[in-house]
Amino acid sequence: MLKRVLVKHVLGATEAMDTVLVEGWVRSRRDAKDFSFLDFTDGSCLTGLQVIVPGELPDYSSWINQCGTGASVRIQGSLIPSQGQGQRWELQAASVEVIGKADATYPLQKKRHSPEFMREIAHLRPRSNLFGSVFRVRSRLAQAVHRFFTERDFYYIHTPIITASDCEGAGELFRVTTLDPSKKIDSSADFFGKPTYLTVSGQLAAETFACALSNVYTFGPTFRAENSNTTRHASEFWMIEPEMAFCDLGGDMDLAEAFVKDLIRDTLETSAEEMAFFDRFVDKGLLERLQWVLDRSFERVAYHDAVEILLQSGQSFEYPLQHGLNLQSEHERYLTETHFKCPITVYNYPKAIKPFYMRANDDGETVAAMDVLVPGIGEIVGGSQREERLEVLESHLKAHDLSAEDYSWYVDLRRFGSVPHSGFGMGFERMLMFLTGVSNIRDVIPFARTPGHADF
Ligand code: 4AD
Ligand code: MG
Repeated sequence: MLKRVLVKHVLGATEAMDTVLVEGWVRSRRDAKDFSFLDFTDGSCLTGLQVIVPGELPDYSSWINQCGTGASVRIQGSLIPSQGQGQRWELQAASVEVIGKADATYPLQKKRHSPEFMREIAHLRPRSNLFGSVFRVRSRLAQAVHRFFTERDFYYIHTPIITASDCEGAGELFRVTTLDPSKKIDSSADFFGKPTYLTVSGQLAAETFACALSNVYTFGPTFRAENSNTTRHASEFWMIEPEMAFCDLGGDMDLAEAFVKDLIRDTLETSAEEMAFFDRFVDKGLLERLQWVLDRSFERVAYHDAVEILLQSGQSFEYPLQHGLNLQSEHERYLTETHFKCPITVYNYPKAIKPFYMRANDDGETVAAMDVLVPGIGEIVGGSQREERLEVLESHLKAHDLSAEDYSWYVDLRRFGSVPHSGFGMGFERMLMFLTGVSNIRDVIPFARTPGHADF
């Protein structure tokens, strides 16, 4: 039996072929006098295969109307140099078999649909040029993440999805329980015998492994019950979290900046076809902006200096700023897009706005935290050097009203062979938005979960 060939390989053929078998979907059909053109795809690449269906095929008129937009078909034919403009090869069909019909109610027509409409048909949108491209790039980006860390001798750790600790201390946890929600909850009678949640970050578990295997990373789903309906927040998103022993904040920033650049370089190289498409149809100037980031070093600026720049800017922000407050995304974007005109890393944030695990600086006011900010997005990476001094960590736990007992395993790392260590988290979808120019996080996740939405 003839083996199916993916369209991406058919299009990359170096010579004509007598018999080729392809299977996929019809994007559109155009009928001429005694033949039809099919724009055919199997999703293996952006470009479709042009298929000529000759009118003299047996019973042509009885089945050709079933080869409409959305129908799945198996086509056997010969690959010949295309007579038309715009493609090198075309497939001259010798047989066409309709596998699954799609009638006129098929919602994905050839015209452009709004992103809102596409979210309503999230089960069909990967068949479109845009979403097919986004998810091919997403797949390659995940592979690039693993390559980056493997090349640098990092071990990949699977940290738990169900946890009992709130790493970020922001109280944005989804509860995991098997108890009847209509009754008063007695956690000791619950499945795990105590309150449990979906993880907001794998960091604390990654730290334990860094303090054993030196360089590790986790890459998995994280969950935040944060009621913010923005284009950059999802309730379920993927995070990449490296953690390094014997590493201070400087080394942490070095790695984060190298990581961002490496992922840009990799994507431009491995997804050139999709990237050209995004540049043309999604975000004009995308390629130029990414190249611009690649060619520049990241500026580093201390938090207080960044706030001073914003206060002096004369800009009126929706959220007024003062020293000690969190930077909002409008502030972050002003810094990177308007002031510095390059990606920047802001470091040494006020202790009061950061989680308990960050290392206290000698000034008594700030912690060794850092955020990487990029144009168009704002924060893409957040990280820190971790507090490795036992007494200081214990005092942080107290100050944050966290029980030393719950975190005893974490504190133990400071009791036995403690080392300076650092790490960060990169939002995988934020990076994907930055790379593709897609402006809503809902459109780079296969099935987005956001407040009020858990469809599909
Ligand atoms: O800054 P965050 O909250 O840092 C942490 O969770 C640390 N424990 C990471 C670490 O040091 N290991 O989150 C890290 C990154 C952010 O910079 C952002 O890119 C992304 O995760 N992120 C989100 N992405 C999508 N939707 C959300 N709701 C996100 N919240 C954070
Ligand atoms: Mg952050």
